[in-house]
Amino acid sequence: MQHPPAPAAVPLPARADLPRHIGIIMDGNGRWARQRHLPRVAGHRAGVRAIRPVMEACHQAGVHILTLYAFSTENWQRPRTEVSALMRLFGETIDREVGELHENGVQIRVFGDRARLSASLQEKVAQAEALTAHDTSAILNVAINYGGRGEIVAAIRELARSGTDLSKLDEGVLSSALYTAGLPDPDLIVRTAGEFRISNFLLWQAAYAELYVTDTLWPDFGESAVHEALDDYSCRERKFGAVPDPGAQDDTFGPPPAPRAHDVHHATPRG
Ligand code: FPP
Repeated sequence: MQHPPAPAAVPLPARADLPRHIGIIMDGNGRWARQRHLPRVAGHRAGVRAIRPVMEACHQAGVHILTLYAFSTENWQRPRTEVSALMRLFGETIDREVGELHENGVQIRVFGDRARLSASLQEKVAQAEALTAHDTSAILNVAINYGGRGEIVAAIRELARSGTDLSKLDEGVLSSALYTAGLPDPDLIVRTAGEFRISNFLLWQAAYAELYVTDTLWPDFGESAVHEALDDYSCRERKFGAVPDPGAQDDTFGPPPAPRAHDVHHATPRG
């Protein structure tokens, strides 16, 4: 399991109601192309063009950690021509964008099993990571040949190989062996093109992520769509399995809760 360079200490969002880390399942490139009677690869090219404005909108809003799901371990099952077009596109995109990303202080990190990528793509990934390893304005993680289940299994195997006593394995140790080691978990996972699925993306890390699904196809997902997603997120009440206001909850094994100030007028008058 090859890990990306250590994550940079990027600024936190200025407001607590913004996510620190957003994961995006970029879906709908094929449908975007079909609507225009174009080949699927034209949809993927449009998908690549959509990335920069989304990154910029996140950065402007104060969100500096993005993880994009570019190619899953299941995507190898697509037609060979589409897979090779996507692989070519990844390489071309790195070549074209890495210089400017570096100038803008964006640290590029790749999640996934690189061994199955071509030697030349592996080389481009390694160079992009090395060039941007010390950039600290924002982090762009790109998941290529990534699957959440595979990541967890690979991390446990690696821990076993390095002599960790797996009978004492805990959540912190496992988290530190994942590609996301050192990063906050995604607070928000966005999926475009309307499917309500997580599709093997950041399974462990998404335990408490807020999910946001939009019908907008990925190539059409721009700055205003980012703001809509962030506004929606800001209105969510994140409970992490707890109770936001313990005084408001009935306690099955304890006395009934005291009325809260705004409940008093509902209380039955005594006497
Ligand atoms: C899903 O749309 C999209 C993908 C499997 C590929 C996403 C990849 C990109 C946008 C390119 C990213 C490039 C870099 C360098 C990060 P789909 O083809 O499943 O669409 P459909 O469901 O409408 O057919």
